[in-house]
Amino acid sequence: MKIAIGYDHVGYILRKDIIDYLETKNITVIDLGAPSTERTDYPIYANKVARAVNSKEADLGILICGTGIGISIAANKCSGIRAVVCSDPYSAKLSREHNNTNILAFGSRVVGSELAKMIVEQWLMAKFEGGRHQNRIDQIDAIQKGEFHE
Ligand code: RB5
Repeated sequence: MKIAIGYDHVGYILRKDIIDYLETKNITVIDLGAPSTERTDYPIYANKVARAVNSKEADLGILICGTGIGISIAANKCSGIRAVVCSDPYSAKLSREHNNTNILAFGSRVVGSELAKMIVEQWLMAKFEGGRHQNRIDQIDAIQKGEFHE
């Protein structure tokens, strides 16, 4: 399993605990985040991680900014991406089971390290259920292509 991780200057501090956590689970981490806590722009890192996921260089992606909001919005503009911003493990789990999310985002100003690790754990353990949920994902894809006219 390979996970691409991206973060801006606000996510920079929390990133280390998440990378360490992933590595203890024998996950290969592709680090595409900001080089330091010097101010930068979160869309840069959303785009890098989204491209890694869409090209299958990475199986999944994780994004961290201050709230997780901006970086998830940016990722959701990219082809093939279903990004979710989560502050609780239940939503993270359901986002994979029902929505087949391929990028998880959270905010370093919203969740602490231990909660963030629980969110990541639930997200990684969950499996997409397919079935009726696949039909809805197909509808989302059609919206993105301008081909959904309900
Ligand atoms: C940066 O100040 C902050 O806006 C960013 O980390 C993120 O929270 C945006 O959604």
